[in-house]
Amino acid sequence: MMTVSNRQFLLKNRPQGRVSESNFELVVSEAKPKAGQALVENLYLSLDPTNRIWMTDVEQYMPPVAIGEVMRGLGIGRVMESNSDLYKVDQLVSGPIGWQDYCLIDGQESWPFTVLPALAPDVPLTLFMGAAGMTGLTAYFGLLEVGQAKAGQTLLVSAAAGATGSVVGQIGKIKGMRVVGIAGGAEKCRLLTEYFGFDAAVDYKDADWKKQLADATPDGVDVSFENVGGEIMNAAITRLNMRARMVLCGLISSYNDDNDANARANLVPFLMKRASLQGFIVSDYFAKFAPATTDLVSWVLAGQIKTKETLVDGLKQAPEALNQLFDGNNVGKLLVKLKS
Ligand SMILES: NC(=O)c1ccc[n+]([C@@H]2O[C@H](COP(=O)([O-])OP(=O)(O)OC[C@H]3O[C@@H](n4cnc5c(N)ncnc54)[C@H](OP(=O)(O)O)[C@@H]3O)[C@@H](O)[C@H]2O)c1
Repeated sequence: MMTVSNRQFLLKNRPQGRVSESNFELVVSEAKPKAGQALVENLYLSLDPTNRIWMTDVEQYMPPVAIGEVMRGLGIGRVMESNSDLYKVDQLVSGPIGWQDYCLIDGQESWPFTVLPALAPDVPLTLFMGAAGMTGLTAYFGLLEVGQAKAGQTLLVSAAAGATGSVVGQIGKIKGMRVVGIAGGAEKCRLLTEYFGFDAAVDYKDADWKKQLADATPDGVDVSFENVGGEIMNAAITRLNMRARMVLCGLISSYNDDNDANARANLVPFLMKRASLQGFIVSDYFAKFAPATTDLVSWVLAGQIKTKETLVDGLKQAPEALNQLFDGNNVGKLLVKLKS
């Protein structure tokens, strides 16, 4: 049986504000699969805003990561040895690999591992972490199931140049919607209209961004896909049409901040416009992941969904690199490449 030396980031203390290396202890231990387990070499680690939520002990949709526990993180790995009927050597698997070089899996994980389909040579593995992975699935179920996307209606998306937002907007276009994105900076806004095919972009870093938003949504907003919260969410609320659906996907503007600015959402328009506000978590849809992944892959292969990635090299970069999501330094999916 194979034994490997495994670097692991253990959560040492709960961050206040930005994440830093001092919130973790990097330890080395041995990993060796027991009966029923497979040993997986981790290849790519996904950095997600929810990692920051898991580091806290506020009430959340999964148990927080305990102090002293390996930091939870999704990713992709390759099965190196298997004592499990579920996995075969050399299969690629996607799931909660953790912030470490290797993981031991047995099919009992609360966020299930999936075996990736055999890939055509021109399909990059990282597609299954972005547009056809967790963030793409979030876009898919959030827009189609929660948002009830309809052709001819207007869709507004915040954090639109990110992993989830960029796919939301492109699925909106596939479904025949007028799509407006909100992002930070001229470069990201240009990307939205010229690369991702949005109809209009609003740069929330410009002083006149609320006017830009009004100009870009002359017929109001029917589906608002909210990734940010705070002032951006309140501005989106002012544009809601009668019976609009606001899809509450995330509130990234408050994850680093204990003073929760999102406690002050403007609810009045929901009443006046008979609009809905629904939160969701992508894992609500586990049972439908397989057919949705097939749709997403086919849209990417047909060129209907374009992708962008921001790649960071090496496990040691993970804590500091997570901050890119909060600084807006990523475009598309933020990933750590673990093996060169
Ligand atoms: N409900 C679910 O199941 C689920 C699943 C996945 C993700 N999410 C949520 O979806 C959102 C996006 O996640 P992602 O993984 O796709 O990340 P992402 O959009 O790739 O990256 C985060 C982006 O958020 C923007 N941002 C960060 N802080 C901001 C602030 N204070 N004000 C305005 N914009 C800010 C930045 O873009 P700019 O440069 O444009 O500012 C940044 O690039 C997050 O809220 C996340 O929690 C929810």
